Amino acid sequence: MTQRLESVPFLDLAKEYAGLEEAWLDVIRHTGGSGRFILGPEVTALEEEVASYVGAVAAVAVASGTDALELSLRSFGIGPGDEVITTPFTFYATAEVITRVGATPVFVDIDAHSFNLDLAQVAARITPQTRALLPVHLFGYPVDMKKLCALSDTHNLPVIEDAAQGFGCFSGTDKAGGHHVAAGYTGAFSFYPTKVLGCYGDGGMVTTQDEKIADQLRKLRNHGAYAPFQHDAVGCNSRLDEIQAALLRLKLRLVETAIAGRLRVAGWYDQMLADLDVVCPVRPQDKTSRHVFNLYTIRVKNRDLVRACLQRYSIGCNVCYPQPLHLQPVHRELGYQVGDLPVVEQACGEVLSLPIWPDMSEQQVSTVCSAIALAS
Ligand SMILES: Cc1ncc(COP(=O)(O)O)c(C=O)c1O
Repeated sequence: MTQRLESVPFLDLAKEYAGLEEAWLDVIRHTGGSGRFILGPEVTALEEEVASYVGAVAAVAVASGTDALELSLRSFGIGPGDEVITTPFTFYATAEVITRVGATPVFVDIDAHSFNLDLAQVAARITPQTRALLPVHLFGYPVDMKKLCALSDTHNLPVIEDAAQGFGCFSGTDKAGGHHVAAGYTGAFSFYPTKVLGCYGDGGMVTTQDEKIADQLRKLRNHGAYAPFQHDAVGCNSRLDEIQAALLRLKLRLVETAIAGRLRVAGWYDQMLADLDVVCPVRPQDKTSRHVFNLYTIRVKNRDLVRACLQRYSIGCNVCYPQPLHLQPVHRELGYQVGDLPVVEQACGEVLSLPIWPDMSEQQVSTVCSAIALAS
């Protein structure tokens, strides 16, 4: 007999929106009345506030997280013949931008616990063709940036940090987007609505410690223009609009409360899943680091059975990600084979992301865990 359980969506932003609705409508009225729709004072203020929040010298708003990564690569002049070391366990955009600039993604296996790049293997894959390191804070779990930046310093390689899922995560005392390396550094953020800091459309941001890189990014996001109608580079149109920027400024003021909410929900899951046959996400060993739980992802051997059971009860879940990037058809020509990166290949068969958002209730977490218990 099927037990009765309330449905739980994978993500529910309705309550957050209800709290922000009046302010959001004000933003629309104010922007409409101002006549400034793109790259105006709200964008400039957001850039200053994000730079200050993450501890960067400058921030440059762009149209998406994907553009934040691609323009970062281009600002370092990375292109054909260059290799960029990254993780095979991430959303495709991370590697797509490497290919888009004409460089080659080099995939290195992950650490089974954090799901992030195995830094010992990164060191082993650095060659004379390597032009940058591109770590990802997957699900909001911070990469050990102290170790990664030390690798960068030893080999004089720029770091492009994919912080799309890691807004507000710390590695040691430095926030994502606020690290330093001598060879050049950018942090790339996505403001896609599901992210820790999300807007009501697409948006992104690059942070950096170098004003010259920031100037290059400002130019690239706006058709390579260094002054109105003066172009000295091939850029693109990757500009953030005022309405999204103004909303993001409102949400930035609430982001620490939102992260605290995510950590509270993650704690409930940890407790309620403790006796079940699943592996809960680990926390960084370094107590000064912070996981921000953009996603709460468990490992479970009978994943497809558990997923089917959650679906039967209308409980949202997602497999992030079902196939590692080195085995995606688009990367066929790179020549990777099944078995080349065994840790990520096994993870892709076992991971299951559960519903999480800042004001998810304890009752909803309990419902999700009850459904998992029924399946296992
Ligand atoms: C790890 C990672 N990198 C890059 C991106 C791309 O960001 P956007 O969707 O804003 O272009 C995403 C978005 O899902 C992501 O999760």
